[in-house]
Amino acid sequence: MTGRIPRNDKAFRTTPLRTAHIRCKKTLPATTELLTIYSMLSLRVLIVDDEENQREMLAGFLSRQGYKVSSAASAEAALEVAAQESFEIGLFDMKMADMTGLELLQRLRQNDPELQVIMITAFGTVETAVAAMQSGAFSYLCKPVNLDELLQLVRRAGEKHSLLAENRLLKEKLAQFESTDIIGISAEIKRVLSEIARVAPTDATVLITGESGTGKELVARIIHQYSRRREGRFVAVNCAAIPETLVESELLGHEKGAFTGAEKRRIGRFELASGGTIFLDEVGDLPLAVQVKLLRLLEEKKFERLGGEEEISADVRLVAATNRDLQAEIAGGRFREDLYYRLNVVNINIPPLRERRDDIVPLVEHFVQQSCKRLSRQIKGVTPAAKDLLVAYGWPGNVRELANQIERAIVLSRSTVLDVDDFSSLQPVPSRSVATTPVDMSLRELEKQHIESVLRAHQYSISKAAAVLGVHRNTLRQKMKEYNIARK
Ligand SMILES: Nc1ncnc2c1ncn2[C@@H]1O[C@H](COP(=O)(O)OP(=O)(O)OP(=O)(O)O)[C@@H](O)[C@H]1O
Ligand SMILES: [Mg+2]
Repeated sequence: MTGRIPRNDKAFRTTPLRTAHIRCKKTLPATTELLTIYSMLSLRVLIVDDEENQREMLAGFLSRQGYKVSSAASAEAALEVAAQESFEIGLFDMKMADMTGLELLQRLRQNDPELQVIMITAFGTVETAVAAMQSGAFSYLCKPVNLDELLQLVRRAGEKHSLLAENRLLKEKLAQFESTDIIGISAEIKRVLSEIARVAPTDATVLITGESGTGKELVARIIHQYSRRREGRFVAVNCAAIPETLVESELLGHEKGAFTGAEKRRIGRFELASGGTIFLDEVGDLPLAVQVKLLRLLEEKKFERLGGEEEISADVRLVAATNRDLQAEIAGGRFREDLYYRLNVVNINIPPLRERRDDIVPLVEHFVQQSCKRLSRQIKGVTPAAKDLLVAYGWPGNVRELANQIERAIVLSRSTVLDVDDFSSLQPVPSRSVATTPVDMSLRELEKQHIESVLRAHQYSISKAAAVLGVHRNTLRQKMKEYNIARK
C-alpha cells in the first residue's frame, strides 16, 4: 500500500503532510489515510494575478507544499488554461485589468460548479469581503498574503471540494439506484428518495417514521450504502425484540462476569458499528432506563461496557426507526423528549401504501418478477381486474403485505396470469358506511368500541386517532383510561 505514495517525490518529503501521515498512522486505517493524503497531494490550484512577483511567490510556495500549480497572468489567459485542464482550487486577484476575480469565478463556475476560489484583495474592506462571499468565493485573503493563513485556507478549500464532489457522486449513484431498489413513482416516494439523497452523504442522525411494512429498514440500509461509511458495518438492532434486561448489554456490551451468565466479554452493537452505521429499529420500544443511557452515549459519544471501567468511544452514525407516534409516547411519559430531539435531527416519513396508490402497480410488477425468479415460476403478469383490486385494497400491512400476497398468489396459481381469484384472501376494503349497531347497545359502549376501532386502525397512535375522532389528545387519553382501553 505504501508504494502508492510517491516517497521519492521531493514535494512529499519536504511537506508537512508527511508528518501528518506519520502522526495519524496510529489511529487511522492505512488505506484511507494514504488515499486521503494522496488525493491532497494531487490537488490542482489555478493562480490568476497580473502581478508577476505575487504569482511566482504563491506558485512557488504552494508547489513546495505538494499542490500542482498552474498560473495565468490575466483572466482571459486563465479561461484558456481552464478550458484545457480542470482545477479544484482557484486563487484569484480581485482586481485585474481585463476582468474582476469575481467575474472570472462566475465564468469558471458555469462549467465547474465545485471549484473553490479564494480571492486575494489589496483592499481589505468589509464591502469586498462581503462581495467575495456573496459571489460564492470560498474565502478571501488580504495582501500581503500571510502564507500560513493561505495554506490553511487552501487545505480547507480542498476538503470542501472533495466533499462536494463526493456528494455529487453519491447522488448520481442514488439516481441510478432509484429505479431498481426502492420501487415507486408517486410524488410521496420521490420526496422520500430526494430526502435520502440529501441526507445519506452527511453524518446526520436520521429518524425514519412510518407504519409497519412501509420500508423503514430498506431506507435505513440505503442511507448507509450511500454514505461515506459504506465500507463500515450496518448493524441493525431491533430494540423491541431484545428482553428489557438485556438491552443495555446488547447495545453497549459487557465484560466477563458483569452479571450472572456473562461468561465472556461481549462487544456491544455500538462498538461493532464503529466506522459504520447503527440502525435502532423500533426505537420507541426502548425502556426508559436505557433511553437515558442512549442519550448520554449520543451526547458524549462515549460509554462503558457493562461491568467495565474502560471508556469506549464509538464513531457511529445513528439511524433510528419507529412505527410509534413518538410525540404521543412523550406525552404519555414513555419516551424522553430530550432523546427524541437527539434522534429526530432529520426526519424521513414514509407514507402508508394506501396514501400513495400510484406505487402499487409498479410494486406488484416488481414482486411478481422477484418471486418468479426465486420460485422458478413463469408468470407473465396480472390481469387488469386483479390490478384494480390490488390498487383499491387498503394494505394495512403496507409493502410487506403486498409482497407476501404476490408470493402466495404465485405459489398457488395454476395459470400463467394472476387474476382476481388468486387474491381471494385479501380482507375486503372496510366500508365507509356506518355499520349497523345492535339496538340494545348503550351510547357508552358504542363510544368505547368506536374509539377502539379508530385506535386500531391507526396503530394506536394517539395523535392520529384523536385527529380522526375530532377530540384533543388529552380527551382521548382520558377516555381510554375511563373505558380501560389498553394500548396494543
Ligand atoms: N418502495 C419499496 N420498493 C421495494 N421494496 C420495498 C419497498 N418498500 C418496502 N419494500 C420491501 O418490503 C418489505 C418490508 O420493508 P421493511 O422491512 O423495510 O419495512 P419496515 O417499515 O421496516 O417494517 P416494520 O415496521 O414492520 O419493521 C421488505 O422486504 C422491503 O424490501
Ligand atoms: Mg423494520
